[in-house]
Amino acid sequence: MFSDIASKLHGESNDLYRLRDELRARGHEIRDLISGNINECGYVFPQNLIEEIMSRASRECRVYRPDSLGRLSAREAVSDFYAAAGVTIDPGDILITPGSSLAYWYCFKLLADAGDEILCPRPSYPLFDYIALLAGVKLTSYRMSEENGWAIDLEYLEANITTRTRAIALISPHNPTGYVASAEEIAAISDIARRHNLPIISDEVFSEFLIEPGELPRPATGGAPLVFTLNGFSKMLALPGMKFGWVAVSGDAGRVRQAMRALELISDTFLPVNEIAQAAAPEFFQLGNAVRFEFAMRIRKAWLLTEKHLSETNACRYEKPRGGFHVVLNIDGGNGVCDEEKAAQSILRENHLLVHPGYFYDMDPHHLIICFVQKPEIINAAFPELLKTLQNYAR
Ligand SMILES: Cc1ncc(COP(=O)(O)O)c(C=O)c1O
Repeated sequence: MFSDIASKLHGESNDLYRLRDELRARGHEIRDLISGNINECGYVFPQNLIEEIMSRASRECRVYRPDSLGRLSAREAVSDFYAAAGVTIDPGDILITPGSSLAYWYCFKLLADAGDEILCPRPSYPLFDYIALLAGVKLTSYRMSEENGWAIDLEYLEANITTRTRAIALISPHNPTGYVASAEEIAAISDIARRHNLPIISDEVFSEFLIEPGELPRPATGGAPLVFTLNGFSKMLALPGMKFGWVAVSGDAGRVRQAMRALELISDTFLPVNEIAQAAAPEFFQLGNAVRFEFAMRIRKAWLLTEKHLSETNACRYEKPRGGFHVVLNIDGGNGVCDEEKAAQSILRENHLLVHPGYFYDMDPHHLIICFVQKPEIINAAFPELLKTLQNYAR
């Protein structure tokens, strides 16, 4: 009765989450140190602004007049956001989507037929596999090398391009390593894309959260034949429930036009984005500026506090994240015997803290992943406990 894909959609639980549920059932409070839900970590867009903006927007939407690319005012606001960062993208080359995840699906459908390949970073974040499964495409991977501070292994990337490769996906800032691709790397990847005639899908959902303030290098200015830049309000403004994202398309004019025509039809088939959220977008950008800067500053402080705790122990090594919300702890301890799954279970059992083992992210063994974007009191309480458990564990 069901498709082959459906048989892979059981969302099977794993030992770690079974243990978490067991502990919760016994009445223990589990602190989640990995959830990407920024609202749960104390980052919430101001209620009074949401009320004002949404109330004004709702008045604009009493009569339904959909635009298959998304409301022009919303696309102009996205275009202005890039203009402020020195990137020119015409509002006509922007498609509004209900978040970046669906934007990926649109791009995969636009670019790849069943069995075609999308070349993605490894480590990667778990959602990717499901989006690819639903889009019927195959994910292949290029390496981010821990020995080089998680830099992209460009030779490996190019060597893994096959006749079925249809796009190169770049995530910068990267989840979970926190790596931010440099301007030189972007230029090199753009050069590879041009030589192999491949588009780049550039996931920039953590663009506003660089640990060292500065401009994010973007493929949109790198000279690749076609670039799809994905972003949205879910991380940028801590508004995941607004379901407002976009694909901004740039590159060779003829190809951009062709891509936009097809994307418009994909979107027109569903018209999936809430009109009030679209009408509210210009004001969310405008009034959200100060909020965005405040979040970025708090996130920097959260990292500094996390780093202070990490520097007080030799239970693990880590690369300082350059952006995003996560840090990868290497718990190898030099002897190569540390079992990351058992370490995550010990931390859960003893400290009631949930962290992820690296294999959830297709990472080599001996890693734990933590979201450091937490309230200071949580960081101060959780990290000493967690690191003590790791220290004992390493022994
Ligand atoms: C790297 C990355 N890209 C995209 C997404 C999905 O973003 P959205 O909420 O806009 O669908 C996430 C969610 O955590 C993410 O980590």
